[in-house]
Amino acid sequence: MAMIAHKCKDHTVTVVDINQARIDAWNSDTLPVYEPGLDAIVQGARGTNLFFSTDVDTAIREAEMIFLSVNTPTKTYGVGAGRAADLRYIEKCARKIAEVAEDDKIVVEKSTLPVRTAESVKRILESNSNGRQFQILSNPEFLAEGTAMADLEAPDRVLIGGDQTPGGKAAIQKLVDIYATWVPREHVLTTNLWSSELSKLTANAFLAQRISSINAISALCEATEANVDEVAHAIGTDSRIGPKFLKSSVGFGGSCFQKDILNLVYLCEHFGLPEVAAYWNSVIEMNDYQKHRFCRRVISTMFNTVADKKIAVLGFAFKKDTNDTRESAAIYICKDLLEEQANLAIYDPKVEVAQIQKDLGIDAGNGYVTYCETAEEATKDAHAILVLTEWDEFKTLDYRKIYEHMQLPAFLFDGRNILDLEALRTIGFDAGGIGKG
Ligand code: UDX
Repeated sequence: MAMIAHKCKDHTVTVVDINQARIDAWNSDTLPVYEPGLDAIVQGARGTNLFFSTDVDTAIREAEMIFLSVNTPTKTYGVGAGRAADLRYIEKCARKIAEVAEDDKIVVEKSTLPVRTAESVKRILESNSNGRQFQILSNPEFLAEGTAMADLEAPDRVLIGGDQTPGGKAAIQKLVDIYATWVPREHVLTTNLWSSELSKLTANAFLAQRISSINAISALCEATEANVDEVAHAIGTDSRIGPKFLKSSVGFGGSCFQKDILNLVYLCEHFGLPEVAAYWNSVIEMNDYQKHRFCRRVISTMFNTVADKKIAVLGFAFKKDTNDTRESAAIYICKDLLEEQANLAIYDPKVEVAQIQKDLGIDAGNGYVTYCETAEEATKDAHAILVLTEWDEFKTLDYRKIYEHMQLPAFLFDGRNILDLEALRTIGFDAGGIGKG
């Protein structure tokens, strides 16, 4: 929304939320989200044509177009628990709009939703329409965290789905016009509603599938002395495969991939397609396998015990350049290691201590975990280093000096394949990466 305000000075964008603390943060100098480049865009437009408010009703009344951007977490209760998307917030938004709107509205689904959700939104709005016209559009967001501003500035594509009726097409055109202010028209794709909704889930499923595929190969590489980076490079030069999203890792994390695939699996089962459901579910299974496999390898390499050993964990975010830890592989790996009674010294340049404690389900008094201000502090007297997030600063640490302050033999496990293992071995480390024999 900040990017739309930044690009379309003649439109007014009001972001509303019922959470006062969040809105206060968006109105302050410390935004609630760390995202490179976001501060400047928000500060440039805030108070001019970008506003943050808790006055939901007024914002609905005054808007011509309303973006629904609430979260759709995996359901934790009832039918479909653990897989289906929890649509309660979307439904509440639809009901609120139906209650408050005084004239026609275009309602845009920005949240990632199961295919055919627009139908429920439409029915809720139409059942309460009282003569007002509601058009529902689907406009999924493809930005990735850490590169969000660049992704928004120059998206590969913008996708807009809507009814193929005259009213639907007119609504689609209004949203196309907004994006066309800065996105080349040929990058703005329009489809029917269901294709748009399903494309978002499919895009994330395909991206995650590539990671699980290369991670599956990484296990075979470790058994055969092939090198997964070399294999990824070799296959990535085939223009039909392409080089992106082939970086083997400790496993994908983030708020989207797992949630969206689980949702896709649930939808397939709902529509009577168990084979399709099983196919996509295997992407998640492979990701879980990769996380636990990494941990098992750490333990077996360290003489089958990590109990009472100090292990430095470098990186806790699910990827670099974000403070987001949702579904981060680091959470699962740390939990596995804590079960083995290891002592963890965790350092991440952006993640707050309270967040780590929440993710690990521990309190400040837990004697097994310490939180460090620097990588040097975390690695001092450690038996092993685990690189779990690919932060740039981990590439340029003074590993020679770090080695001198570690217990011997000094183990290093590069869960992101960002370090020069040969150089580390020359220093004296017993160093290993992912998918390297
Ligand atoms: C993803 C999609 O990329 C984006 O289009 C969608 O809108 C939201 O979900 P995001 O979760 O922010 O974005 O991050 P992404 O860069 O896709 O990375 C997801 C996870 O996969 C991270 O844990 C990352 O470290 C991991 N990853 C990514 C790999 O392990 N290897 C790769 O080659 C790429």
